[in-house]
Amino acid sequence: MAEGQMTTEAETGREVGVSPRVFSGMQPSGEAHLGNYLGALRRWVELQESHECFFCIVDQHAITGDIPAEELATRILDLAISFLAVGLDPERSVIFVQSDVPEHTELAWLFNAVTPVGSLERMTQYKDKTARMESIPAGLLNYPILQAADILLYRAGAVPVGEDQLQHLELTREIARRWNARYGDFFPEPVAIPGVGGRILGLDGKAKMSKSVGNTVRILAEPDEIWDRVRTAVTDPQRVRRDDPGRPEVCNVFTLHQHFTNPDRLDDIANQCRAGTRGCVACKRILAESIEEHFREVRERAAELKADPRRVRAILEAGAERARSEARETIRQVRDRMGMDWRSAWG
Ligand code: TRP
Repeated sequence: MAEGQMTTEAETGREVGVSPRVFSGMQPSGEAHLGNYLGALRRWVELQESHECFFCIVDQHAITGDIPAEELATRILDLAISFLAVGLDPERSVIFVQSDVPEHTELAWLFNAVTPVGSLERMTQYKDKTARMESIPAGLLNYPILQAADILLYRAGAVPVGEDQLQHLELTREIARRWNARYGDFFPEPVAIPGVGGRILGLDGKAKMSKSVGNTVRILAEPDEIWDRVRTAVTDPQRVRRDDPGRPEVCNVFTLHQHFTNPDRLDDIANQCRAGTRGCVACKRILAESIEEHFREVRERAAELKADPRRVRAILEAGAERARSEARETIRQVRDRMGMDWRSAWG
């Protein structure tokens, strides 16, 4: 931060020493799955204990992909239900839908003025997504600008994100720095809050868990469906016959056991695997039961919410209301600093 540009406490309205505000977003790909839960949601739930949090369903990011319009609304509702069912608490946190707060796109446009195209073109996610595209939508290039706007609109200082988003967060800091250098110090440079589980691989044991790859389990799946999915999980490839000795340390099923199965049982599971005394199918049975048990209450809460969509709607609307009042204030100050407050010049 440059000398002499420090924003005073009075200007930010925040006290020194208070934990930074947290912002995170998730695309509305429908009901959450184990990857969303392990990689993000479970951490978000914890963060509510110690931080003021904003959790956003980023539908405007989603439209840069190929979600059919007729499915978007349902996916938003399903993700909101997953958020609430796992324990995001609307009394504590601001939970809302991005497009309900038009200031996100306004700030993104204003950030276009300070974002080098070269920085956008360097983004790995952009390069991967567009590698085989004939015609690249500008939205995919500008995606990280909108993400920066999401975070900085609330002047959040901390962002829980997975490894794949670190580069976007780095760009967010670059945008904050460039904007501050030109218009005066105003935005924080947000830092990442690392996840707890590291990279979560899907049931194929290869790719990151994701709905589009189809290698995951819905957190709201009923027991039959959990088993149908878990039975397909890839285990140690060197273990061909049931009594071959296995290697839990390379087996993704064992990694999942570490997240969901009672810690007291883990040694036993690992030892039986190494000794070849418990086959993979039996081992997966235990995992399926653990997952089933882990999400039992979550499933119950989700069922209640599904039966009462008006309640979910009221929660999202109240969240948007709170978000908007913060967002309006940021935009007011940003416009002012960028010279758009022409009325004041007219006296
Ligand atoms: N790009 C993020 C993802 O795909 C989602 C996202 C949008 C986000 N805005 C954000 C994450 C702001 C953190 C903060 O996972």
